[in-house]
Amino acid sequence: EAATRLFRQGADFLKGVVAMSGLPPADRMEVCFAGRSNVGKSTLINALTGRRALARASNTPGRTQEINFFTLADSHYLVDLPGYGFAKAPVAVVEKWQRLLKAYLQGRQSLRRAFVLVDARHGIKPVDEEIMALLDTAAVPFQTVLTKADKIKAADEPKLLAQVRGKLAKHPAAFPELILTSSETGAGIDTLRATIATLV
Ligand code: GTP
Ligand code: MG
Repeated sequence: EAATRLFRQGADFLKGVVAMSGLPPADRMEVCFAGRSNVGKSTLINALTGRRALARASNTPGRTQEINFFTLADSHYLVDLPGYGFAKAPVAVVEKWQRLLKAYLQGRQSLRRAFVLVDARHGIKPVDEEIMALLDTAAVPFQTVLTKADKIKAADEPKLLAQVRGKLAKHPAAFPELILTSSETGAGIDTLRATIATLV
């Protein structure tokens, strides 16, 4: 199957970028992972690639402070972004990476789809909607991935899905399909791999 073939070819760290001028050439299919600090972006990249410590994850919000490029199958990019919202880092530093994050999301020609990660326990927050509005304006198609599914009760799922679907309906750049994932149990990881495989 296409996804298995693609991800079996492996992933590697390419570079960490701190300014738009440091971006690699926009010459291949690229998807990025955006979301609030601590939502599980880096952990999800590790789960997708089957590499436990490819992207650095931690319990401290604000762990990823650069735009990290990973090659997938030597021919595509997976991009791990710094989080938005609260971060344990100095204000000036956070502001710098927030500007970079927004410039990247608005200006990256080869960005095929942004995956916007949302904690399944919290649903879509105002700060997520700000980023979604930015993606609408920039006409970057985005898809919502609900993370940490292992942390919610099955009984709470319908309410979560209703909240998320209601909010997404207002965003023209949003795909309506949601992917519920857990990097702990592996739930949804194959679905997300298959989605990425359709984009290459
Ligand atoms: P920043 O780089 O700070 O923006 O955070 P991030 O979005 O990259 O989050 P990261 O991957 O570092 O994960 C944050 C914390 O959430 C870590 O302690 C992870 O182990 C935990 N975590 C991530 N995904 C899951 C999940 O699916 N389930 C559970 N239970 N914990 C998770
Ligand atoms: Mg991170």
